[in-house]
Amino acid sequence: MIRRAQDWDPALREKARQLDPRRMPRHIAFIMDGNGRWARQRRRHRLMGHREGIKTAKRIIRFCHDVGGIDCITLFAFSTENWKRPKLEVSGLMMLLKYFLRRETAEMVENDIRFRTIGRTDEFPSFVQRELQRTRDATAACRSFTLNVALNYGARREILEAAMELHRRLDLGELKPDQVDESVFENLLYTADLPDLDLLIRTSGEHRISNFLLWQAAYAELYVTPALWPDFGPSELVDAILDYQHRERRFGGLRSDFAATRSGGTSRPAIQPAH
Ligand code: FPP
Repeated sequence: MIRRAQDWDPALREKARQLDPRRMPRHIAFIMDGNGRWARQRRRHRLMGHREGIKTAKRIIRFCHDVGGIDCITLFAFSTENWKRPKLEVSGLMMLLKYFLRRETAEMVENDIRFRTIGRTDEFPSFVQRELQRTRDATAACRSFTLNVALNYGARREILEAAMELHRRLDLGELKPDQVDESVFENLLYTADLPDLDLLIRTSGEHRISNFLLWQAAYAELYVTPALWPDFGPSELVDAILDYQHRERRFGGLRSDFAATRSGGTSRPAIQPAH
């Protein structure tokens, strides 16, 4: 799955050279919208759009891993609301997920990519749960990059579950009310071990968060592109990161100080693409 910067096409290399390695977003999340419209425009079944969407996901994972400075990406692949779609589309998505995991696990291990999920995957069919567990286990020790996939995920449900767990711990006396603060609550969310979300990208032009990472997006920069997900690629992603790098992140304060806003250093230096 993974290639190196030297393998990028010259136009991408040229564009990526404009990136400031000191201001890379450590954690980027994607609302991968527009697969259905992409298929409709071509008079194809919606599942063809999702199949193409997986190809885009692979290109984006590969690029984010290779560019340097990005530690983690989160992909919104299946929401708690997506069960309402036609049965054929839901079962097709499950099969696509299974084939994605089967095909990509070895390459993830080879490239030191940790695979993890957020959401209630225990409600997925057992054949998908098995593949998910196999990939999680195989990549558990991988450290250089995290691929986090949101599956049967809903942010309200995540927050509600965290609130219920907090209540349980208070009830048992494991926590005292005066110990509870934002960081205690954050540690009860599905994303507890992930870096803060820096950039949230939504494709296909809708200006909505759609019940995705509501807590985590509190200070994230939002970027909406009209490109449909299957048409989104590394070049469009570089545009998004360049836009992000030109913004002033104040976190409610007055001064612009990117360095101070980051919750730690990047684990790897950004690659300066080869000439
Ligand atoms: C939204 O497009 C997309 C989805 C609900 C599914 C997205 C899933 C993938 C791209 C594949 C999963 C990726 C991995 C890595 C397993 P839509 O169907 O809502 O499009 P529309 O709004 O144009 O109808």
